[in-house]
Amino acid sequence: MYNKENEVLLAYSFEVVAIKEREEHVRHAVSRRHFRYAMEPHIVRRHGDDVQRTASKRLMGKVAVITGGARGIGAATAKVFAENGASVIIADILDDLGTSLADSIGGRYIHCDVVNEADVESAINLALAWKGKLDIMFNNAGISGTEGSITNLDMEQVNYLLSVNVNGILHGIKHAARVMIKGQKGGCIICMSSSAAIMGGLGSHPYSLSKEAIIGLMRSTACELGVHGIRVNCISPHGVASEMLVGAYRKVLGKKDMTPEEVSKIVGERGSLLKGRSPSLEDVAQAVMFLASEEAGYITAHNLVIDGGFTSASSNMSFIYQ
Ligand SMILES: NC(=O)c1ccc[n+]([C@@H]2O[C@H](COP(=O)([O-])OP(=O)(O)OC[C@H]3O[C@@H](n4cnc5c(N)ncnc54)[C@H](O)[C@@H]3O)[C@@H](O)[C@H]2O)c1
Repeated sequence: MYNKENEVLLAYSFEVVAIKEREEHVRHAVSRRHFRYAMEPHIVRRHGDDVQRTASKRLMGKVAVITGGARGIGAATAKVFAENGASVIIADILDDLGTSLADSIGGRYIHCDVVNEADVESAINLALAWKGKLDIMFNNAGISGTEGSITNLDMEQVNYLLSVNVNGILHGIKHAARVMIKGQKGGCIICMSSSAAIMGGLGSHPYSLSKEAIIGLMRSTACELGVHGIRVNCISPHGVASEMLVGAYRKVLGKKDMTPEEVSKIVGERGSLLKGRSPSLEDVAQAVMFLASEEAGYITAHNLVIDGGFTSASSNMSFIYQ
């Protein structure tokens, strides 16, 4: 029987059903979405839209070898690579440090003195045996050594430095290129140079020689390997308070107990256009990460300088801008 009260009740129950259906629909949509986000972690929501995010795991599925990866810049890079999904092989002569770092990032360690070509070849072969390929070779191992006047250089020490800093990198490029060419999937080779290659007075004579030689080698090999889709680049940091740099400061300034913080303070005050800011290991690792990633896919034969602008401009006459 019709009456006003029944009509209101009927309308109300239709409305309740409609609301319940809408809620159910939304619940399904949300759970479908959550499922999708869970399955595809590179999809994120921003302002209500689905946005492709490549920044989360930028080296997913990549295989990398890092020489000199047991400590310092190499170790920081190994961690950043692993956090970004790469499988990392640490090749170094510091067995204890290298092994514990490799264990902590789910990587592998191999004893590798870069002076010996066969050691470098073995490190690369380990990548093939472990994961069947090599995508990224970071030729990072290096030493400072042999300070003093050009008039007194000990040539035996110079030759040793060159055998680590230059031949070590040559071995890395040679064997990485062999397997990358064979794999036919391209690849990325990054070589450690230095601000000392760009500006005089920032390292010992043999060190500067070695680091500039690396840039020349990087350019010529990039030229040959580009046809195979292999990118070859250099990274040139400046003033990172690693064991190597702190050791050199202690030696040159005669202060045995100098701390990394003290070295960073000097670099920030006197070796950077970004006054008071000195580079961290992480700053360099992130730059290497960029070169290794697809975001740098069109960058080859490049030397990426990480020096707070120090080798590009002098602030001595900055009063002219006042
Ligand atoms: N610290 C800086 O400011 C700076 C600046 C420019 C370039 N670099 C370069 O960065 C690289 C890393 O240096 P770091 O500052 O992290 O110093 P570091 O001394 O902490 O690291 C060097 C690493 O290389 C390894 N290594 C040395 N000789 C080796 C060999 N023969 N075979 C295999 N591994 C070897 C060491 O065991 C160590 O793990 C070096 O090539 C260095 O020249 C450093």
